[in-house]
Amino acid sequence: MAAPLVFAHRGSSYDLPEHTLAAYLRALDEGADGLECDVRLTRDGHLVCVHDRRLDRTSNGHGLVSARTLAELDTLDFGSWHPGAVAADGDGPLDESHTRLLTLERLLDAVLAAGRPVRLLIETKHPSRYGRDVERRLVALLRRYGLAEPGPDDPVRVTVMSFSPLAVRRIRELAPTLPTVLLLEVLPRWLRLGRLPFGTRIAGPGIALVRARPQLVPALRAAGNQVYVWTVNEPEDLELVLAAGVDGVITDRPARALDRLAR
Ligand code: G3P
Ligand code: CA
Repeated sequence: MAAPLVFAHRGSSYDLPEHTLAAYLRALDEGADGLECDVRLTRDGHLVCVHDRRLDRTSNGHGLVSARTLAELDTLDFGSWHPGAVAADGDGPLDESHTRLLTLERLLDAVLAAGRPVRLLIETKHPSRYGRDVERRLVALLRRYGLAEPGPDDPVRVTVMSFSPLAVRRIRELAPTLPTVLLLEVLPRWLRLGRLPFGTRIAGPGIALVRARPQLVPALRAAGNQVYVWTVNEPEDLELVLAAGVDGVITDRPARALDRLAR
């Protein structure tokens, strides 16, 4: 069985502030196969990499991300809250790569400049809040970067993920050849393991679900699906998912997973 792909969840987000350029570049340096990021829309329609609906936990701003323009968000500090954020020259101000808002465009630019193959898992957050806009803008941006219709030899390969079957359906309508992941926190009653909805071939169960349902990963794989599990940070969880034969591990600590895989 092939070793699983290792994806850095929000970058190397155990060590550095999540969703910052520094966290993603660290993950690439560590040898991660891919990067995971969440996207949501600003008030003026830009896709930004922020997990929470509100700014309060990961920046010095307050209130809803969706209530601010990109220019307003660009004035905020997204790194000082994390103990891993450091100044470029020791005592000076924090390095911008540790503090600046990351837009999806900035992340795509960095990934394309990396000069090595990178898989990018983009999760659309709370799509019902924005109507169809998140998926429409995401696919338009990917198309502008030449990433919406993947080829087997493309160095950068994008997969779009969501907990929302509706969002997955929209992505498949807008970009039918773009791979998608249906994320699962629980097992919905309507879900048929052998046939994920809308042609999706990758399931993304959380580690708590995998712990509670030991047969889930083998059943999904036996039905021809791939399985990416999140967020696998602890050694015992890593052993569990490796024994289950997963195809992808999404972790805040990619170096730890790569070390275990002797890569
Ligand atoms: O990779 C999927 C995982 O990120 C989903 O949960 O809350 O960390 O976005 P969350
Ligand atoms: Ca996510």
